[in-house]
Amino acid sequence: MFRVAVVGATGAVGGTMLRVLEERGFPVTELRPLASARSNGRQLDYLGKPVYVETLTDDAFEGIDIALFSAGGDRSRTFAPAAVEAGAVVIDNSSAFRMDANVPLVVPEVNESDLEGHSGIIANPNCVAAPLVVALKPIADAVGLERVVVASYQSVSGTGTAAIEELLEETRGYLAGNEREPSVYPHPIAFNVLPHIDTFDESGYTGEERKVAAETRKMLGRPDLAVSATCVRVPVFQAHSEAIHIETSEKISAQHVRELMMGAPGLVLVDDPAHNRYPLPRDAAGRDEVFVGRIREDVSHPRGIAMWLVADNLRKGAATNAVQIAESLVTRGWL
Ligand SMILES: NC(=O)c1ccc[n+]([C@@H]2O[C@H](COP(=O)([O-])OP(=O)(O)OC[C@H]3O[C@@H](n4cnc5c(N)ncnc54)[C@H](OP(=O)(O)O)[C@@H]3O)[C@@H](O)[C@H]2O)c1
Repeated sequence: MFRVAVVGATGAVGGTMLRVLEERGFPVTELRPLASARSNGRQLDYLGKPVYVETLTDDAFEGIDIALFSAGGDRSRTFAPAAVEAGAVVIDNSSAFRMDANVPLVVPEVNESDLEGHSGIIANPNCVAAPLVVALKPIADAVGLERVVVASYQSVSGTGTAAIEELLEETRGYLAGNEREPSVYPHPIAFNVLPHIDTFDESGYTGEERKVAAETRKMLGRPDLAVSATCVRVPVFQAHSEAIHIETSEKISAQHVRELMMGAPGLVLVDDPAHNRYPLPRDAAGRDEVFVGRIREDVSHPRGIAMWLVADNLRKGAATNAVQIAESLVTRGWL
């Protein structure tokens, strides 16, 4: 049994962490929710009982075995070392440590063995990269992968609770004819599509797009893999979608890809377009699996495959994957 701290427990990801720990029956003796001083004393529920939020400080980790961080990169950089010092293993949802050479970046279905020999901090990947590698791994293993081009359609919960509120308020305001100024995004997100997630660099890519490319390469163990991403925010509350185009090393048929997807851990094939069946955010929200469909041979390339993927960003893109990492550490004896 383990004493578990959830850092950022009042947030979109932290709240989902509590639910996922409950649902999966993770062996918890003490659940310690941590957040900013603003939330000190706030009551949350865990397994039907009240738990009270404590303020995140260096001393907050005494006696903790596992610390699940989702309170932003600055908090991770400041407090994860204190948690490790106190004897906890940190599983971090921010991007603070993902590309550090000595920090494993893990999706258990893809590269669980990278957890072995960790040095106290384990990184949970970006919410586009995590489901993407779940779908790419079986194809890479079967026929090799040369290039990945992905366009994401990312929900507002990927930005956190304030963005969920912004979409709700803007939608109500737009319909009532009294829109308010956006505060989370640079433009209104209601009835709009924003090709802008994170900051732009001189190459024209955004930070989010660079993360998707770099993390995909790291998790697949392919520093040479060509990856290009366009990350887009859409007015959807929960679950990110991805249009994926890949070039494989050897030719593979769409049917072979479907068969690989059916046998792959964590994946669900929803691919019957003749009956309007394909993955949708409203179906994937609240689910832990990665849904894949619209699989077809890309007419523009002799070794090209195109497909559509949807996964819940708060679950497989964040909380579920973090709890799966904790489960792997426990079952493999790597804690
Ligand atoms: N949303 C996603 O889909 C997703 C996916 C993957 C990774 N992530 C990462 O997960 C993290 C949290 O994202 P989120 O979407 O859950 O954001 P969120 O809903 O805005 O929640 C932020 C959480 O961080 C806490 N926090 C903020 N400032 C703090 C401080 N100074 N000290 C202690 N706690 C503080 C907040 O506590 P208060 O309530 O007290 O302010 C809240 O619990 C981010 O690093 C994000 O990049 C998010």
